[in-house]
Amino acid sequence: MKKVDVILGLQWGDEGKGKIVDALAPNYNIVARFQGGPNAGHTLEFDGHKYVLHTIPSGIFHKHITNIIGNGVLIDAQIFMKEIAMIRANGYEPSKNLKISQKAHLILPTHRVMDAVLEHLKGSAKIGSTLKGIGPTYTDKTARHGLRLGDSLEPDFKTRYETLKATHIRQFESLGFDWKNHKIEQLSFDEYEQKWFAGLEEIKKFDIISSEYFINQALDAGKNVLAEGAQGTLLDVDFGSYPFVTSSNTTTAGVCTGLGVAPNRIGKVYGVFKAYCTRVGSGPFPTELNDEVGEEIRKVGREFGATTGRPRRCGWLDMPALNYAIMINGVTDLVVTKIDVLNDFSEIKIAESYIVNGQKTAEFSTADLEDIKLDYLSFDGWNQSLADIDTFEKLPSNAQKYLEFIEKNTNTKISIISTGPNRLETFFN
Ligand code: GDP
Ligand code: IMO
Ligand code: MG
Repeated sequence: MKKVDVILGLQWGDEGKGKIVDALAPNYNIVARFQGGPNAGHTLEFDGHKYVLHTIPSGIFHKHITNIIGNGVLIDAQIFMKEIAMIRANGYEPSKNLKISQKAHLILPTHRVMDAVLEHLKGSAKIGSTLKGIGPTYTDKTARHGLRLGDSLEPDFKTRYETLKATHIRQFESLGFDWKNHKIEQLSFDEYEQKWFAGLEEIKKFDIISSEYFINQALDAGKNVLAEGAQGTLLDVDFGSYPFVTSSNTTTAGVCTGLGVAPNRIGKVYGVFKAYCTRVGSGPFPTELNDEVGEEIRKVGREFGATTGRPRRCGWLDMPALNYAIMINGVTDLVVTKIDVLNDFSEIKIAESYIVNGQKTAEFSTADLEDIKLDYLSFDGWNQSLADIDTFEKLPSNAQKYLEFIEKNTNTKISIISTGPNRLETFFN
């Protein structure tokens, strides 16, 4: 039985998923996003160009690959059309190889306002949301009054839109929030809403499908399907560092609900992780480095958000967290990225275990960070460039030792190694 392969993040997002999906895409007929929305920022670099995708799958620049936005994904019509315009401006025609689930939910302009209101109300406990309306839209989805893309094709759509908008506005007004003057991406609410509706008209020209049938029939016909995750395991609404998480299942289970693929149709699970850790937004981060080493990783790794431009928090690799993510996702193959960022560090550390109440444990926890101590192992750096290295054997021996330690301690093969942002700076191991 043909199965869906999965590429997803094992940390707090931004592991380099987009780059890896783009690099592996030629092995597949279909690339499908299964959750998240424009909170994601997936960076692809090839042929001297750099592209950042938010809602559109990272296989879009391969003309012969069908890209699918699955039912689990959220779409903001305004952001989506900006993305389409960017792709078109670079000479690609996405309507030829992009299909969208009719069950994908719509992020309304008032969902974006709601995100800002809720974050504001949280004060210092704020999540650090990307403010793309993700939480409020998934909330309306599970509360069963959300609007789906398929609804926009029905004659009563405008009425249903106005009803939901009015519900949101009643909440803003009860909180005394001046929503009319709240800017969204530098636009007034009315301007944003106008662009949103114009975008929706454009989206309707795309192929809007029952993606669960499309994918299952493609599998039955022997096609190769790749599911592309957004965010990362430690941002999963169930298994992440709750409440500092996103509102979807970013894990392998999310592929089943976000595409309509049965669990026994999950094939390889490629878990992507950086050779160190980063996190953007608030929430616990056990191995975070609030010192010049963390600053150096941020500088060398250019660790600034692809969606919001915010500086990412940086720290060492966290083995309990990595093993937790491997367990939750059933990772079959590891993918390490950004190993080149560590080229010039004389000492590299890995948190091998946590010490909780004086007891050493390999279990990941962020419950009471003040009570957790970390047990670090130190590795010698390799102090050399990794340019042009395309096999494991050619890696400096200290880099090999670092990766071998990770393989041994996760009991999982590192199958793909990424040594730079370019599509070509990738090799199989
Ligand atoms: P995603 O959200 O998981 O797709 O990752 P992002 O695109 O948000 O962030 C990853 C960043 O690292 C992007 O700027 C990529 O171009 C870059 N990148 C990916 N892989 C590598 C790598 O192996 N080395 C270096 N130096 N940069 C990489
Ligand atoms: P990609 O796909 C990194 C973080 C936000 C915030 C929390 C909740 O590029 O890896 P949300 O907007 O979902 O309500 O934000 O999750 N976050 C991400 N961090 N990469 C992402 O996506 C993220 N998407 C959301 O910073 O802490
Ligand atoms: Mg990203």
